[in-house]
Amino acid sequence: MTKKVALIVGSLRKDSLNRKFANELVAQAPSSLQIEFVEIADLPMYNQDLDDANTPPAAWTAFRDKLRGVDGVLLFTPEYNRGIPGVLKNAIDVGSRPWGKSIWAGKPAGVLSASVGAVGGFGANMQVRQCMVTLNAPTMPGPEVYIGMGTSLLGADGKVENEKTKETLKKYAEAFAHWVEANAPKA
Ligand code: FNR
Repeated sequence: MTKKVALIVGSLRKDSLNRKFANELVAQAPSSLQIEFVEIADLPMYNQDLDDANTPPAAWTAFRDKLRGVDGVLLFTPEYNRGIPGVLKNAIDVGSRPWGKSIWAGKPAGVLSASVGAVGGFGANMQVRQCMVTLNAPTMPGPEVYIGMGTSLLGADGKVENEKTKETLKKYAEAFAHWVEANAPKA
């Protein structure tokens, strides 16, 4: 059965490496996954006062509604100073509230990272996993994907050229399709 998956990229850069690898993941994914990018650039910074007053910004509500309607979520993160970029952490925080209404609870999740450096965003990847596990999102332990030296894997057209990387993303997407199937909330 087809599963709807939201794909969140933790970079706002127009030439984002993470978005390029995310595009390739979508291209390599099995047809059982219907993957849609969900943008986070316009989410105002989280402020609990707005939820307490029941006046959440429209962008928070739209984001929460969109995520509530999917069967799984993929997060592709860059690494900033060995940690999660603030824009992605903000999206995770917005989705986690109001208390008791988190959109992450029970949502099968997968975390990938890409970087210009050799370590492939490992530090950020682990921090995103820590958040998702704490939020009770069944987070796929493996295969693990940390794409290092990202620029060297692209062709002149900016698309992923490296065959091994394409294969890695294909295997990841196939594993995630099984993960979503196995961990989908029971009706
Ligand atoms: C970086 N970058 C970086 N890379 C890395 O491997 N480890 C790190 O800790 C950091 N720290 C860091 C901090 C800040 C503020 C910036 C702007 C960048 C480099 C980073 O990997 C590179 O900019 C990537 O291209 C970011 O991903 P996107 O935007 O291309 O998807």
